[in-house]
Amino acid sequence: MIKCISCGEEYSLNEIIYTCEKCGSVLEVIKDVDVSKDIFSCRKQTMWKYKEFMPVDESKIVSLEEGGTPFVKCDKLGGELGIDLYVKVEGSNPTGSFKDRGMSVGITKAMELGVSTVGCASTGNTSASLAAYAARAGLRCVVLLPSGKVALGKLAQAMFHGAEVLSIKGNFDEALEAVTALALEGELYLLNSVNPFRLEGQKTIGFEIVDDLGWKSPDRVILPVGNAGNISAIWKGISEFYDAGFIENKPMMTGIQAEGACPIVNAVRKNKMEIETVDNPETVATAIRIGAPVSSLKALRAIYDSKGYAETVSDEEILNAQKLLARKEGIGVEPASAASIAGLLKLVDECVVDKGEQVVCIVTGHLLKDPNTAINACVEPLEVEADIKNLREVIKKN
Ligand code: F0G
Repeated sequence: MIKCISCGEEYSLNEIIYTCEKCGSVLEVIKDVDVSKDIFSCRKQTMWKYKEFMPVDESKIVSLEEGGTPFVKCDKLGGELGIDLYVKVEGSNPTGSFKDRGMSVGITKAMELGVSTVGCASTGNTSASLAAYAARAGLRCVVLLPSGKVALGKLAQAMFHGAEVLSIKGNFDEALEAVTALALEGELYLLNSVNPFRLEGQKTIGFEIVDDLGWKSPDRVILPVGNAGNISAIWKGISEFYDAGFIENKPMMTGIQAEGACPIVNAVRKNKMEIETVDNPETVATAIRIGAPVSSLKALRAIYDSKGYAETVSDEEILNAQKLLARKEGIGVEPASAASIAGLLKLVDECVVDKGEQVVCIVTGHLLKDPNTAINACVEPLEVEADIKNLREVIKKN
């Protein structure tokens, strides 16, 4: 069933509904599952390994084999910080971000419902992923993007997979409001994370982390927060495995936002359950340039219930962390993803993260999503003659 997280009102799984008709709050999908974790062990490493926990018809699955992403132990960086550090590399998904997990379930649901057009507003990755999965399913796809603020890799993907791309004069929050109005009029099936089926896919990040750790919870999970769907989804996944008796503890959910777009952090600092929206969000991490996150209530519950934390990082800290992760550990991520590493550095500094803690940082999207930011952070290559003597001199000098 679909259930309101505030008033508990219940809806059928086949209703097209995005927020509670009774109280206006956000919804979640509930599925009763009674299985042993042993059934997972011989299955292929995709997120559908945990298909019993997915509330969709198995015969209609639309998949590009998303999930099963690298879980990389980072001893160099972890050693310097005095912690046990793992990085979950979501850039290794089919379109280069964690959104593919949610889209696989979301598009499967769209097929079940028999809709013909799907749509979303996006800071880039959601649209890239939706365009690819809609193409695979043969559905029409409409995406609304904030004009001039979408990283080029993501824009190229949305266009190349054949989506109808509309550049909105406004920011992400305004684009989301517009596409939601279209969805409520029945023009399209909305696949932003306000659609609770999206989070059902993304919760598998939580499943994979505890599975990779040998059915143990880490002490802490750190991730960037924008529209706040992912932190909510990962917490839901880990909680489901906890409730199933697969693990004995749960991690402290730790959300990181950019200084210029931090409504969730502001709420946590005031120990509140409601956010004050940020009118003109700004950050180099365009993926999380969001002032009115739709899943804020779910995210705040995850942070408070897990005794977690929320912190901001500056654009400079984000870019420094992006470079550090690329040069020290060989992991290339886009700026928003580096917010989790920047946050980790700050929280170690502030002694919020204790020495010896086991920490999982989620890096959400691939470096090449935002090629301009990567190129701008580097010096241009030297132009030299292909002459061996000359080359030897140049290499020696450098
Ligand atoms: N990291 C990346 C790379 C993202 O693209 C996003 C969100 C986030 C983190 C934040 O996740 O919204 O669940 O809190 N991108 C959305 C989009 C908003 O349209 O692609 P969140």
